Amino acid sequence: MRALVAYLSYSGNTEEVADFIANRLTMDGLAVSMHRIGIDPPVFPSDYDFIFIGTFTWDQGSTPDEVKDFVAEIGYKPENVAVFGTGDTQFGGDDLFCLAVDKLVRFYESKWPGLKIEQSPRGNQELKIVNWLEGVLENAKAFA
Ligand SMILES: Cc1cc2nc3c(=O)[nH]c(=O)nc-3n(C[C@H](O)[C@H](O)[C@H](O)COP(=O)(O)O)c2cc1C
Repeated sequence: MRALVAYLSYSGNTEEVADFIANRLTMDGLAVSMHRIGIDPPVFPSDYDFIFIGTFTWDQGSTPDEVKDFVAEIGYKPENVAVFGTGDTQFGGDDLFCLAVDKLVRFYESKWPGLKIEQSPRGNQELKIVNWLEGVLENAKAFA
């Protein structure tokens, strides 16, 4: 099984989540490719059994332009997209918290709920990632 972990991160929080996800997937025996959105050369989504897309939320609940460009670059809606992200409830409270995650989940009609992490995942939010990943992998097995 192959997984792509594509993410955008300015100040490192989303990257920490991406790294954590990549490590867990590797431990589970998947072959993982990391993709830094806006930096690394284009990817071929059809090469992967799972596509994880990670983003932070910006500017009143907005999705960063780099992520929008990445989505446009993919050019179609793969069925196996799982979305994660980081945000900060200080910016507009629950309504705007990780709104970019919700938008991508809707856009891709993802089979899985989005994973929303408050700032850095270090500490007790790591368990949230582990549980979410379990759900993604289990559900995917059911679909296989
Ligand atoms: C100008 C600005 C606007 C932001 N707006 C939001 C927002 O609307 N919703 C949210 O959940 N987080 C918002 N955040 C918080 C970031 O999404 C959060 O710090 C995130 O973890 C940054 O990700 P990164 O470390 O991967 O770059 C905002 C941060 C900044 C600096």
